[in-house]
This record gives sequence, C-alpha cells and structure tokens, in this order.
Amino acid sequence: MHPRNRYREHKPDFLDLARHRPSLMPYLVRKKASSSSEPAPYSHTVDFSNPEALRELACALLSKDFGLEVVLPEDRLVPMVPQRLNYIHWLEDLLMEETEREGEEGKKVLGVDIGTGASCIYPLLGTAVNGWHFLATEVDGASVQSASDNVTRNNLQDKISVVKVSLETVLIGAVCESQHYDFVMCNPPFYTDKKDRYEGSQRTSHRPAPPTFSTGSEVETMVEGGEVEFVRRIISDSLTLRTQIRWYTSMLGKKANMKTICQELKKHQVPVVRWTQFVQGKTHRWAVAWTFADGRGEESLFLGPGRKKSQPLALSVPHERMETAASAVERVLHQLKASLGELKIEFEREAVEMGGEGGRGCQLACEARTNTWSHQRKRKRLKQRLEEQAQQTKLQSGESVQTLQPGTEEDGGGGGGGGGGGGFESREENAVKGNEVCSRG
Ligand SMILES: C[S@@+](CC[C@H](N)C(=O)[O-])C[C@H]1O[C@@H](n2cnc3c(N)ncnc32)[C@H](O)[C@@H]1O
Repeated sequence: MHPRNRYREHKPDFLDLARHRPSLMPYLVRKKASSSSEPAPYSHTVDFSNPEALRELACALLSKDFGLEVVLPEDRLVPMVPQRLNYIHWLEDLLMEETEREGEEGKKVLGVDIGTGASCIYPLLGTAVNGWHFLATEVDGASVQSASDNVTRNNLQDKISVVKVSLETVLIGAVCESQHYDFVMCNPPFYTDKKDRYEGSQRTSHRPAPPTFSTGSEVETMVEGGEVEFVRRIISDSLTLRTQIRWYTSMLGKKANMKTICQELKKHQVPVVRWTQFVQGKTHRWAVAWTFADGRGEESLFLGPGRKKSQPLALSVPHERMETAASAVERVLHQLKASLGELKIEFEREAVEMGGEGGRGCQLACEARTNTWSHQRKRKRLKQRLEEQAQQTKLQSGESVQTLQPGTEEDGGGGGGGGGGGGFESREENAVKGNEVCSRG
C-alpha cells in the first residue's frame, strides 16, 4: 500500500463504520480474535465475497473517511476504496516532483480520468483529498448518468465535468485543444473477452484468485484487445498531444502487460517512463506513467536488460560502546524507518537473526515506488537529517543493519543500478532506480 494511504496503518473499524452507515450492519461478520491478548474475544469484518457487502462498505468508507455521499448501481463495478486511493497518492508523487521542480505550488491541478465508471471514484477521491479538477470521460450511458449524479450529490460540478464519449475516443476528441492538463489517469477495461474474464487469466498457480467477489459488468470490464490495446491507444494519442498533458498514466491488471507497454513506449522513444505496483491484500495491480515534459532528459532511464544487481549495503556499527545488542539494533532501525518514511520508501521488516561477529541484526526489505531524491535541495535536507540523527545516537556498537533491495519477479523489482554507494542516500538511490525504470528484458 502507498505509504500515505490512510488504510495502511489504520484498517477500517467495521463496527464503527456500520454505526456510521447502518445499512452496512447486516453485512458484518464476526471473526474470532486471533490472539488471546486482544481485548474482545471477537472482532468484525465484512463478507468480501458478497457484492452487496462490498457496495455498502465502499459507500461507508467514502462517506465516513472522505465526506462523499455516493450511490453505486447494482449492475456496475464496485470500487475498492483503499486500492483506488493508492493510485491517487502515486499521482500526487508524480505531480509533487514536478511542482517542486518548477515552483508551481498552489496552482490549480486539472486531470483527465478516462473511463470514470458509474462511481466516478477517481475524480471524487482526487477532489476530496487534493482539491483537483477533473474531466471524466465514459462511454457507457448508464455510467455517465450515475457518475454525474454522484458529482451533483456532492456539489462538485464546478470541479468535475463528466462527458460521454464514443468508443473510438480515448483522449483526442475528449480533451479541449486549448487546455493544458496535469495528468491523465485510467483504469482500463482489463479483459479482451468473456473467456479472458471468467477464466481469470491474470491468475497463476502461484497466485490463486482473491477471496473478493469480482464486480463489474461486461461493458465495463471488457474491450477489444484488452487493456494492452486500450493503453496503446492512450500512447498513440499522447504522441500527438505530447506536452499538452504533463503525465500520461494508466493502471494495468497484469504484470506481463506492463512489460509490453514499456516496450511500446520505448519503441516510440518516449523520454521518461515510470511504473509502480499497487498491492492491496492479495490483489496486485501495476501502473505506468510517461511524460514528454521538458527538462527531464537526465531521467530518461531506459536501461538495457542484464544490469548487474548491486550488493546490499551493510552498515556496521562499532561494537564497543553500545549498551545492549537489542537496543542498538532497535535504535538504528527506528531512525532508518523514519528516514525511509520521509523518502516514501516502503519496507517490511524481516525477522532474521544474522550470524557473524556482529551477532544479532535484522533486515529491511525495501521497495521504492517513486523518485523522491532527485532534487539537490531534498538530498541536502536528507543528508542533514541523517547527520543529525547519527550525532544524536552515536552509533557505537558491533551490530549490523542491512537494507535489502527488491528484485524478485513477483514484486516487480527490476534489480538495482551500479555498485553500492557509500551511505544511505546512494544505497536508496540505487534501489529506487532499479524499481522505477522500465528495463526488464
Ligand atoms: C474498469 S472500468 C473503471 C471504472 C472506474 N474508473 C473504476 O476504477 O472503478 C473501465 C471503464 O472504462 C469505460 N470505457 C471503456 N472504453 C472507454 C473509452 N473509449 N472512453 C472512456 N471510457 C471507456 C467503461 O465503460 C468502464 O466504465
């Protein structure tokens, strides 16, 4: 989950949500407490295999956490709010980088949501969270009506404009010629046909179907050529529109498709490409972004396949003056986590004991999803903070802490850049570059 996603640390309290929205109450399911230390012998969840429960849950979350009153038609896709929020936060990261670069803080942000669906979920969230403005397009008449009703219900007509477009339209014909847009986002129909949809071709034997019910009608989830063809059409329009839109982005449901799309972008010599992965429980999604904006040449990182994986950076802390091994590791970890948080680098602690002279230690598996360090100003600030932290704690023990770099096929890591650096900063840079560029062969 994105580090700023509000559901990352705070899972919804389903009972509290149902008190806020009583129509969710019938869908609550009691779950036995997993440990005897929990205050109550059971907690509440909802039945994620029941589409009604999912619909009520989405409406409850939107209402309680974002102040949005939304009606979701029975025969249309039910958006998973935490997952949709990941995409919004990733866009924020892309825009934030640009804003800092060009000093445009406070400027009105205008985005396009291609295929907004009956919920109009992305524009509603983007407006509620960030005050963004949207052009929301949709081909399905019933969804256009429902999306417009949701906009009106929340009195957001001055920020969100829902338009019906033809099946052939993606961007050209929908966007206004004289208007500059900050981003395009899209959750395209995933499947090529019924077989693709019902056989769940995005699943593998390693990754069984998730326990959630797949909502959504055929008109919403299928398109000729599937998501690859749909995103190819966005690419094709972007080659004409170029800098009229700053960031072109799309979500993808299959990892293999990400590679195809990156190859397509490379074929067209698109100068800057980024990608990320959204993980929500057992559901994995990918997203790709590209831009033609000026001044980014130094980040045109289409590195070729076969790059060497760099070795993890081991940071050894001198042995002598640390009180206890356990407190040494915890203190260093505490500071590392704070710094990784600042850099928006996700991490998981792996509870391993490392042998060797240092004795006890632990590992953090890190995954960086966005470039947060390119600017000198930021880098300076980070360096300063690390120096201050190092001074405060006087790292003085023989413990060792490692930051590990992602790189497995499953997590989408692409391996790191060149050799290891001489400090946290350079190590993190390597890790993130490995995960940001489209270089997997
Ligand atoms: C997977 S749904 C996404 C709905 C919503 N954005 C969400 O995330 O819940 C894809 C949507 O794209 C719409 N769509 C298909 N082709 C389109 C096109 N050419 N232009 C705009 N919308 C289109 C479908 O009708 C459907 O509502």
